[in-house]
Amino acid sequence: MTSENTDLKEKLRQIPSLKAPLPDMNLEMFPDTPHQAFSLWLDEALKAGIREPHAMTLSTTDENGWPDARILILKNVDARGWHFAIKAESPKARQIAAKPNVALTFYWPILGRQIRLRGLATLLSAEECAADYLERPQHSRVSALASQQSTELSDTTELDRNLVKAEVFLAANPDYIARDWQVYAVAPTVVEFWQGASDRNHKRLCFTLSEDHSKWDRVRLWP
Ligand SMILES: Cc1cc2nc3c(=O)[nH]c(=O)nc-3n(C[C@H](O)[C@H](O)[C@H](O)COP(=O)(O)O)c2cc1C
Repeated sequence: MTSENTDLKEKLRQIPSLKAPLPDMNLEMFPDTPHQAFSLWLDEALKAGIREPHAMTLSTTDENGWPDARILILKNVDARGWHFAIKAESPKARQIAAKPNVALTFYWPILGRQIRLRGLATLLSAEECAADYLERPQHSRVSALASQQSTELSDTTELDRNLVKAEVFLAANPDYIARDWQVYAVAPTVVEFWQGASDRNHKRLCFTLSEDHSKWDRVRLWP
């Protein structure tokens, strides 16, 4: 191993993780559904001052079975699941269209908390996608309209030109709805709440949806 590698390894070893004080997880008083539990933990994340607690990792798989993951913003949680918005032509949208089995992961460091969900992503109605697009700030709509997301950008001037074109177009057509704006809901079948502990005796509670979807079963997992 080179000395550069040794330095990096040492540097990483020195970074603390799951540093006290961390909250406890009261398993007896824990909410009955993952929806209620998520809402409670989100409030606590906001109270703790965690930045962007609504940022989550969306994991998908591509056509060759390779996992892919990226951060997205959580837009809502309701009976249909956890919502996010993406562009229809993006790699993740194509992956979901081909295989809707996805995972969502949240990590809230100051609280040492992780939430993991697995389930199927379902595209919401055209009306809901349109409403979400129109609720976005002007600059977000411009950028969504101008971007050919995740394809090679070989010429910066093309991006600048597209942005100006989109800006002019949206100024003239303020009610325009980008048809490729999609909102998905992930209906989880498994949700795990993980409370880290400095002594590594982490607490984990896993909710699994019963086969007839009528109730959530809960089990505690080994750390
Ligand atoms: C904090 C944060 C929030 C993001 N929110 C979104 C989002 O809500 N929707 C989105 O399409 N991309 C969002 N992105 C960008 C994605 O992570 C990703 O780079 C982009 O969507 C392209 O993904 P793909 O090539 O896998 O399709 C966000 C990135 C970060 C770091």
